[in-house]
Amino acid sequence: MRVIQVDAVPSTQDVARALPVGTVVVAERQTAGRGRLGRRWEAPPGSALLASWVMPVHELAPLAAGVAAARACGDAVRLKWPNDLLLHGRKLGGILIERTGERCIVGTGVNLRWAPPEAAMLDMDRDELVTRMGAEMTRWFAAATIEILGSWRERADTLGRRVRVQLSGETFEGVAEDIGEDGTLIVDGRPVAAGDVIHIRPAETG
Ligand code: BTN
Repeated sequence: MRVIQVDAVPSTQDVARALPVGTVVVAERQTAGRGRLGRRWEAPPGSALLASWVMPVHELAPLAAGVAAARACGDAVRLKWPNDLLLHGRKLGGILIERTGERCIVGTGVNLRWAPPEAAMLDMDRDELVTRMGAEMTRWFAAATIEILGSWRERADTLGRRVRVQLSGETFEGVAEDIGEDGTLIVDGRPVAAGDVIHIRPAETG
């Protein structure tokens, strides 16, 4: 991965759009960082990994990126569908994927020295995390579907839980049973392709 370091930018996603596959843009701070579902992503200067990775298009890009980022962050980090990073049940980081032509811009925000209330942060040097994540992104964007699904399931915090799914215009609850081969989350037999998933509590067993 070729690393391009920048100081302040509106969003690393917009810088990365113009760059070739195999490049990552890492910023000290963003003035208009974006999150999923039209949300903002805020972090004090120098407090987080704010990076956008230019990757090839992959049909399981959200899951491949989640697996790559979680593995780079360490064994304790788990995944909330599709690719929120959780540490001890709290949000450690998030991933925003935007497609441009034949490339995916994979934006990763990971809290390192500061976290919003109720969120987690990771005790890892930012440069080390960039190196680790670069290797994992390369690996998982070249991996076979079955391998990505298997690794995602192993890291999943969502599966087996009761969840609330918020779609545009509809909210429903059910048990997150599995993921489909296309990366959808199966909730009470119903495939969910997009939307917000909230963990309610562990599923009842027995
Ligand atoms: C989310 O959880 O909603 C995804 C957050 C993604 C934030 C990262 S920070 C680097 C990159 N640039 C952005 O504007 N967003 C992503």
